[in-house]
Amino acid sequence: MLLLSRADIGKVFSMKDAIEADREAFMLYSQGKSAVPLRTNIGMPKHSGQSLFMPAYVADLDCAGVKVVSVFPKNLEAGKPSLPAKMMLIDGRTGEVCCIMDGTYLTQLRTGAASGTATLLLSRKDARKGLIFGTGGQAAAQLEAMLTVRALDAVEVVDIDVKRAQAFVADMKEALSHFSTEIRLCDDPEGAVAKADIITTVTTSKKPVFDGRKVKNGAHINAVGAYTHEMQELDEYLIANADKVIVDSREAALAEAGDLIIPLNKGIIDSGRINGELGELLMGKLPGRETEAEITIFKTVGLAVLDIVTAHHIYHKAQLMGIGIQADI
Ligand SMILES: NC(=O)c1ccc[n+]([C@@H]2O[C@H](COP(=O)([O-])OP(=O)(O)OC[C@H]3O[C@@H](n4cnc5c(N)ncnc54)[C@H](O)[C@@H]3O)[C@@H](O)[C@H]2O)c1
Repeated sequence: MLLLSRADIGKVFSMKDAIEADREAFMLYSQGKSAVPLRTNIGMPKHSGQSLFMPAYVADLDCAGVKVVSVFPKNLEAGKPSLPAKMMLIDGRTGEVCCIMDGTYLTQLRTGAASGTATLLLSRKDARKGLIFGTGGQAAAQLEAMLTVRALDAVEVVDIDVKRAQAFVADMKEALSHFSTEIRLCDDPEGAVAKADIITTVTTSKKPVFDGRKVKNGAHINAVGAYTHEMQELDEYLIANADKVIVDSREAALAEAGDLIIPLNKGIIDSGRINGELGELLMGKLPGRETEAEITIFKTVGLAVLDIVTAHHIYHKAQLMGIGIQADI
């Protein structure tokens, strides 16, 4: 069995590799070629946390596995990740566990890559201005993915925790200096929404993080945060009036995404509001962006098939490159 740390994954897998892996995973999912039971959540209110168990199986790749990812927001105060996670990969030919890897970085990579894939298909090719709400654990990969797929002049970042946002800007200026994009703290979120070509929301918010009426024509939005009935990042106006709402999975979005469930429960939209799944766009069954003016939304709640496929490719590259620790247990 191979053990892979965050640093090991970084040595063998880039954001471009992750976008390739996610493309494959989204297509396998929408073709019905993966088994992805809805995840099981166990609440641990004693410490304001919960653990999510995310299994999947992909016959074409002979791999299965489960990621256990926990959400413990108070961890941030103790300098620990708020989403600790491990991925256990299973050889689909024998059922043996072949690899355990850091699931926190895997989650960041594949979630950033999901937005990257959607941004590639749905944002305008001439997009120049980006805007990110939320500068927590997922934000760096979201920003890197945005810069990987579009040549942006500037990305502004917003967080209700201004100190965290300032530190994020300083870190990202260094880590992503190879992109010639200005990364700066946003001092006027409302004005920035009105100018942004690509907006990513990656917060833990339970209420909309900006006014959907201010979004300009031609903008693309990745909504990454809300994954429960109570959570919401996008307002009902935007969900109801966007030209396209694309999701990672219809089933999961309707079961988990407050951004859709809240307006559904209020009778503002019905399930037909979802135009399709990202995998259907990738397969050419549905068009991506069709006009310069349309406003597009990609809502993701996260799919275990993304973890399994990405982890499978990381594992095989690490084996080829002799990276990681072999454990015989
Ligand atoms: N879709 C997916 O596949 C996927 C994968 C992983 C995580 N997530 C979700 O994405 C969200 C962010 O994850 P994270 O690990 O970065 O969380 P985090 O707790 O590390 O950071 C969240 C950040 O959002 C900020 N925030 C909260 N409300 C805000 C608001 N109204 N405006 C601006 N900023 C606000 C917080 O101050 C914090 O800095 C979580 O809800 C998480 O569950 C989704």
